[in-house]
Amino acid sequence: MTRPPRQSADRPADPPGVPARRAALKLLDAVLRQGLPLEAALDRATQGIDRSDDRALAHAIAAETLRRLPDLDLLIDSATRSRLPDDAKARFALRIALVQALALGTPPHAAISTVLPLVDGGPRKLVHGVFGTLMRGAATLPEFPTLPEDVEARWQNAWGEDQVGAAERAIAAPPPLDLTLADPAGTKALAEEVEGISLLPGHIRLASTNVRELPGFEEGGWWVQDIAASLPARLIGRGQGVALDLCSAPGGKTMQLASAGWSVTSIDSSESRLARLRENLERTHLDATVIAADLLKWSPDAPADAVLLDAPCSATGIFRRHPDVLHRVNPRVIAEMARVQAQLLARAAKWVKPGGTLLYATCSLERAEGEEQLMAFLAAQPEFAIDPVRDEELPKGVPPHQRGWVRTLPGMLGDEGGCDGFFIARLRRAA
Ligand SMILES: C[S@@+](CC[C@H](N)C(=O)[O-])C[C@H]1O[C@@H](n2cnc3c(N)ncnc32)[C@H](O)[C@@H]1O
Repeated sequence: MTRPPRQSADRPADPPGVPARRAALKLLDAVLRQGLPLEAALDRATQGIDRSDDRALAHAIAAETLRRLPDLDLLIDSATRSRLPDDAKARFALRIALVQALALGTPPHAAISTVLPLVDGGPRKLVHGVFGTLMRGAATLPEFPTLPEDVEARWQNAWGEDQVGAAERAIAAPPPLDLTLADPAGTKALAEEVEGISLLPGHIRLASTNVRELPGFEEGGWWVQDIAASLPARLIGRGQGVALDLCSAPGGKTMQLASAGWSVTSIDSSESRLARLRENLERTHLDATVIAADLLKWSPDAPADAVLLDAPCSATGIFRRHPDVLHRVNPRVIAEMARVQAQLLARAAKWVKPGGTLLYATCSLERAEGEEQLMAFLAAQPEFAIDPVRDEELPKGVPPHQRGWVRTLPGMLGDEGGCDGFFIARLRRAA
């Protein structure tokens, strides 16, 4: 695709509504052509947009386009005589116009009139014509989005048909909002106050809402964390010794460990993510020693009682909130992440005291970043064994694997709003 046009001095200012669509186009370009995460592209794509609701709209259009991409493309292909290349600018513009009209509730005339300026001096007539044909034909999108073919094949092979269906249903609905409480004793009272449900002590689930307006935000007695993401630190439990939280930012698990009594050292290589971790600790009045370092180089002075490695991964388990992973993660990305995880896991193992706990987690739905990683680790590290997770440590509807690890899948907790895809293994070092 030719690059999205820059705002140049000789181009008249965009009419209202167009800057958000122009930013959405840049976001899609960043994800689909450059392979960048949507969040990472946000600042750059929305540069020069002053209004925060325009920035939010650009993000919403791009995210919904990524959720619906195969179905949008199928519609576009049904209305063009010869297939538009994947990276054709007309295809990008049509995706943005159609997703607004068919999924986001934008009136069709507004959806198309704010997109046509993006193709000025280009395929304007084609875009207008295809959009009009589809609207006149009362085009619709399926209730449950279709997964991209390669993702469907990968997950079908790994988890079966039912989980593919569950993943598609999960994309269709906005994920619920999960809170983790610093003090589980307050669960019942807060759940009643916010009209939420609790699936575990210290957990509350409610419909997505403005987090800052919820009771207790300023006081910092809770933080937002998907229930699956809260399991790794829960499975370490309460303790008074030293815990290392590796790859810790923005700090959900650091806060859990600190509130469970551990003396936490929290390490991450990203300064910007650590800034959010520090803000989180400040708001929740929790303590941790925070270190900015590359864990492939850094080592602690002494081994710890518990080491939690929430390793960097493909993040395919969080496709509901980050639909870009459906399009930019491929076998090469997965293999590269698995290689880094193996290196980090081997280093983390050295930092566990005899008799101590090593907790390995990834928010991935790929076996190479979970089950296969664990098997390779156990084969290379005979001092470590699985410390099997028990039923009663998990929410109802998330059974531990018979070999003692935890694999959360899109179909789990389906009636309660689902959960992210995670792999979690709790290991014990021989005493
Ligand atoms: C899955 S996220 C961590 C989420 C975090 N544990 C939480 O619960 O909020 C993975 C993290 O790994 C960090 N990371 C990636 N490579 C790293 C490395 N070589 N050294 C240290 N941190 C790294 C990233 O900056 C990112 O914050």
